[in-house]
Amino acid sequence: MAKAPETDARPGQHSGPRHVAIIMDGNGRWAQAKGRPRLFGHHAGARRVREVVEACPSLGVKYLTIFAFSTENWKRTQVEVAGLMSLFRRYIAKETRALAARDVRVRFIGDRVRLDRKLTDLMDRMELETAVNDGVNLTIALNYGGRDEVARATQRLAMDVAKGTLDPADIDEETLPKYLDTHVLPDPDLVIRTSGEARISNFLLWQSAYAEYEFIDTLWPDFTAEELGRLCASYGAKDRRFGAVKT
Ligand code: IPE
Ligand code: IPE
Ligand code: MG
Repeated sequence: MAKAPETDARPGQHSGPRHVAIIMDGNGRWAQAKGRPRLFGHHAGARRVREVVEACPSLGVKYLTIFAFSTENWKRTQVEVAGLMSLFRRYIAKETRALAARDVRVRFIGDRVRLDRKLTDLMDRMELETAVNDGVNLTIALNYGGRDEVARATQRLAMDVAKGTLDPADIDEETLPKYLDTHVLPDPDLVIRTSGEARISNFLLWQSAYAEYEFIDTLWPDFTAEELGRLCASYGAKDRRFGAVKT
């Protein structure tokens, strides 16, 4: 399995975040405030992604991970779920070329089993067509849940134990992340949630153990590159100690 790249895990020494993860929340409220259906907000939200991705290189953000659909979002109405799935299909079909032209490599995390074949084919193609790029690494969390990811990872790990290729005595905190969907990504340095909610809603549970968090009131369809720049700058002023005492 590929070795995870090094993280920004050096106490005190960092400038901007290398990996930013965003919980893109507030599309529904944004639409409702305008007297429009929730899906109108989801479409506006999807259109925000390009500007945010394009801002990454100048901010030194090499990895951007965005939460698009959680394992809990299936609890929404059939109309909203179907509308979101159709939006994902259209987004991928439309954006693949534009992202590839900007040297963006796209990956998906989450459980694909519950997604329809048409969508997973598009996801595969987007990953394949952007695989040679090494500018920004954009990871889209689709049917993603942190607990579900740890459960699926544990299943694969247990299978290796059963096969005899993994000794239980060798399992440590370096072992499990190799089985997570994010195994090729560094841990997030900064996790942003829009819309005023101060919770993580099952996003990157293992990976965010030492992330800095920013909970901001802006609803996702109003989020701008400028705001990302401001959050990256205030991240740079923080003292990340990782449990150590500054010497
Ligand atoms: C985030 O916006 C997008 C998804 C969860 C798919 P919401 O749809 O959760 O918007 P609010 O929180 O209801 O305003
Ligand atoms: C989290 O937002 C999931 C995504 C942004 C995709 P939710 O709107 O689903 O989270 P809760 O329900 O407010 O916790
Ligand atoms: Mg929400």
